[in-house]
Amino acid sequence: MDIKIFETTEKLDQYAAELFTELIIKKPNAVLGLATGSTPIGIYAKIVENHNNNKVSFSGVTTYNLDEYVGLTPDNDQSYAYYMNKHLFSHIDIPAIQTHLPDGMAEDPQTECARYEAMITARPADIQLLGLGHNGHIGFNEPDENLSGATHVVKLKEETREANARFFASMDEVPTEAFTMGVGSILKANTILLVVRGSDKARIVKEALTGPITTQVPASLLQTHPRVIVLLDQEAGRMLS
Ligand code: F6R
Repeated sequence: MDIKIFETTEKLDQYAAELFTELIIKKPNAVLGLATGSTPIGIYAKIVENHNNNKVSFSGVTTYNLDEYVGLTPDNDQSYAYYMNKHLFSHIDIPAIQTHLPDGMAEDPQTECARYEAMITARPADIQLLGLGHNGHIGFNEPDENLSGATHVVKLKEETREANARFFASMDEVPTEAFTMGVGSILKANTILLVVRGSDKARIVKEALTGPITTQVPASLLQTHPRVIVLLDQEAGRMLS
């Protein structure tokens, strides 16, 4: 694992955005695995800046997002489809047809999982961006005795719903289920880019990166991947020696 700790959020975002930009310059038809949440917002802003400065075109790029809530339409401002349009897709020259998220409104969730997994398997990501949950989740793969390898529907834990409730008008509106890539789907990526910020995640960063590999800390399975880059701010990295 290649672990880098940054003095400022600005530098972290810039570094992460450069990784994506350089990849796309080298490989214009790159496949990007993308994430939502608060962690990537600054990174997406820097990627957009690079695009606006004519450094990079996304016309040949394909993207796959990690996850989507079950039951939210893409025009619902809490859906991950909405988030991706707001923070990235609407600001760059990527054709909509080349951007993919699980369909939160799919009539048959199992068929949707199989469809999504087949796409990821056919074209694994060159780089997969990940944030980290306080309980060690990646995507919506929550700590459990067993983890699903492939794309699946998860029942969200209360702690995860509570962590996300800040984005909804009330707790009742927070969805109870989500589609997520499985840990196996995530590990198919050529390179994994894990980004974590904040003192409140210092303990789980240490557990995930240096603790035992266990399904109780889903991110610890990243230790089995040959190419993982971890970008941390000083607060998130404070418990690493
Ligand atoms: C988002 C996702 C989640 C988040 C994680 C951290 O697509 O899959 O695993 O990356 O919950 O969220 P933030 O960045 O909001 O702290």
